Amino acid sequence: MTNQTDFITGYSPAPESTNLIEIKERYPLFIKGKFSEPQSGKYFSTINPATEKKLSEVAVANQADVDFAVKSARNAYKNVWSKMPPKERSKYIYRIARVLQERGREFAVIESMDGGKPIRESRDIDIPLAVAHFFYYAGWADKLEYAFPGRKANGLGVAGQIIPWNFPLLMAAWKIAPALACGNTVVLKPAETTPLTAMKLAELLQDIDLPPGVVNIITGAGDTGIKIVDHPDINKIAFTGSTDVGKIIQKSLAGTQKKYTLELGGKAAHIIFDDAAINQAVEGIINGIFFNQGHVCCAGSRLYVQECVAEEVISKLKDRMDTLIIGDPLDKNTDIGAINSKMQLKKIIEITQSGKDEGGVLFQSKCTTPKSGYWFKPTLISNVAQSSRVVQEEIFGPVLAVQTFRTVDEVIEKANNTPYGLSGGVWTDKGAKIFKITKQMRAGILWANTFNKFDPTSPFGGFKESGMGREGGIHGLYPYVELS
Ligand code: NAI
Ligand code: MG
Repeated sequence: MTNQTDFITGYSPAPESTNLIEIKERYPLFIKGKFSEPQSGKYFSTINPATEKKLSEVAVANQADVDFAVKSARNAYKNVWSKMPPKERSKYIYRIARVLQERGREFAVIESMDGGKPIRESRDIDIPLAVAHFFYYAGWADKLEYAFPGRKANGLGVAGQIIPWNFPLLMAAWKIAPALACGNTVVLKPAETTPLTAMKLAELLQDIDLPPGVVNIITGAGDTGIKIVDHPDINKIAFTGSTDVGKIIQKSLAGTQKKYTLELGGKAAHIIFDDAAINQAVEGIINGIFFNQGHVCCAGSRLYVQECVAEEVISKLKDRMDTLIIGDPLDKNTDIGAINSKMQLKKIIEITQSGKDEGGVLFQSKCTTPKSGYWFKPTLISNVAQSSRVVQEEIFGPVLAVQTFRTVDEVIEKANNTPYGLSGGVWTDKGAKIFKITKQMRAGILWANTFNKFDPTSPFGGFKESGMGREGGIHGLYPYVELS
């Protein structure tokens, strides 16, 4: 596939090589340290959303498969992992981090092929951050008495972990690393459109001799996820995904002893004041919404610009949008890759159209998109009301809804006027203003004069319908321990 925008940018194509990548024709389930055929006997395909070509097949885990995975995790917990001295557990987690770092390029290429994200992001963000998470929690494994002074922290048992398709390996790292550090064992299910880096991780876990059953990776769609959530021998559920599914999971868990964390949707307000460094803010807005095709729960999808600078900001934004390169995810020049799935593309088109129908004015980048695959041009919608769907609903695509404001109170009111509360951003020259505004914003993660910055030491999680609990940092240990 060639990059369609060469004539605009003048860049020659610079595709990352796929020569060193091994993708097997099919991946059975990874249970008890081995790849074993699913008892369901069924497989499904995962495709490259940039080409619509099939990459591989992964197994469908049915009830018997889930039972087997949970049993394997339970035995590993009882007989091996909970008995192992913490410093030995720590060494295994370090080993995962180091080998993942060594094989970073291979994981990055597969991540981009299976999910559609630009190689620049998988190479510079997803994989290094996944590595950083394993290093960070490896460090905690033998220091839990410092995280919880005066108390004893024990693992809970078996953690069932269900992850989405927007940051596949990174989400696996967010889930597995703290669970193992606290002495738990794991049954993890990747999303159905992006299972491959999880299966590569399973191979890596075999290579580093992680004791069998400590991490089990099983594949399947929502039906498999339900069976994990409902399994009576699981002690903790960690879920990242849609708010709708999060609510279903919360209902199923009500009245059970299971602990849980839910990281759900978002509709972040990105606020630009007239005293902000406008050029930097424009880059921040672009990164905030177009990063990873807008497939980011904390994406800055609602822009609030102070009225007196609105014209300048919007005009600069449009100019910058026109220079974005959309196309082959494996090309190192690419800014915007493919939409993850046909279903997601349909959802983005439908909500964007509703914005137009409600009187919104659409601006889209001039770029052309490749013929096959799933693509959506970077889009800005202005002239929208606070009540319109494009302002209220999570689109999870490269679509930015723009509104203006005059006063601080007005923008705080608007920023908080959503069912979500995951993240937000503020751009201003004044430190005092940053504190005044962010204190009143109901969101778990707030950035000032930057956006979408992540670090394993920072807690991450939402208010309201964006979820329950925190992942990352010391906070990310709590959901995986019982304190006595
Ligand atoms: P989803 O919530 O259906 O899928 C996420 C994960 O949950 C997948 O592994 C899936 O197999 C599993 N799952 C689905 N139904 C389940 C159930 N009933 N019980 C247990 N596990 C279940 O998300 P989907 O359909 O892929 O995306 C729909 C929308 O969700 C997106 O358009 C976006 O708005 C939002 N989303 C938010 C994410 C976030 O990071 N907050 C990530 C992915 C999607
Ligand atoms: Mg795929």
